Amino acid sequence: MEYELLNVLENNGFVDRVIYEYETTSTNDICKANTDIERLLAVAELQTAGRGRMGRHWESPAGEGIWMSLLCHPDLSPECIPGITLLAGLAIAECTDAFIKWPNDIIINGKKICGILTEMVTDADSKNHIICGMGINVNTESFPEELSDKGTSLYLERGSKISREPLIISIIQKLTNYINEYEKTGNLSFIKKQYESLLIHMDKKVILHSLSEASENYVNQFSNVAHGSSSNSSASQSPEPATYITRGIDNSGALIVEDNAGTIHTISSDEISVRGLLGYI
Ligand code: BTN
Repeated sequence: MEYELLNVLENNGFVDRVIYEYETTSTNDICKANTDIERLLAVAELQTAGRGRMGRHWESPAGEGIWMSLLCHPDLSPECIPGITLLAGLAIAECTDAFIKWPNDIIINGKKICGILTEMVTDADSKNHIICGMGINVNTESFPEELSDKGTSLYLERGSKISREPLIISIIQKLTNYINEYEKTGNLSFIKKQYESLLIHMDKKVILHSLSEASENYVNQFSNVAHGSSSNSSASQSPEPATYITRGIDNSGALIVEDNAGTIHTISSDEISVRGLLGYI
């Protein structure tokens, strides 16, 4: 990893600092230890305790991927924080010519090349620190059998190895510009069109799974049916999953889905995972 190259981000004001470490537990941990820095990019060659969503382990071997986290303190209310994940997903999808599986997976040819883990840390002065961790499989040559039908890399899909530093730079430039815009507008209307054009399930049938319970639990009904407004969902257990059609995102980044009766529901990213009818996609 050419650390010098990453310094262009510092020198051009996209971030205040870049911390590059060969080995770390998790780049999110580097950010947690440096919350005094306004905008920090932490990059590591190798993570020994890379974390994924739902407490899962994130495989992060040396030389193969981009393991990085952006620390920022956007002037946004706490309910806007999940929107940072969507901005990161959009920046990565645009820079890698990929699609987005809402809210935080980046997909090429039906397989995942990247995951995003956004964490918020609140300090004793009630100041919120947002840490957006991004893991991109760039030059990975093979995956363990249990992951190979779901995970892939840019190399495996595009056929040639990619230099990671220029990709990091374009993603972070895009993402920090998006965050600046988000701070100005306080909503995601400025990316809605672009985002929906890259949404892998746009206008497609999906099944919703509750994240709070076992993955077999489909979301077959909503406790709070709402048309065009935010609603909370409740999972009902049924062997037959209900299907919905994805209709896009609203200005807060919630997913808009339509049920078989034509009723519109909005779902937030922390409660539900979206799957296609055949499984992951
Ligand atoms: C997921 O899909 O479950 C999210 C994976 C996020 C992985 C990245 S790698 C950089 C940063 N550091 C971590 O420990 N996790 C994120």
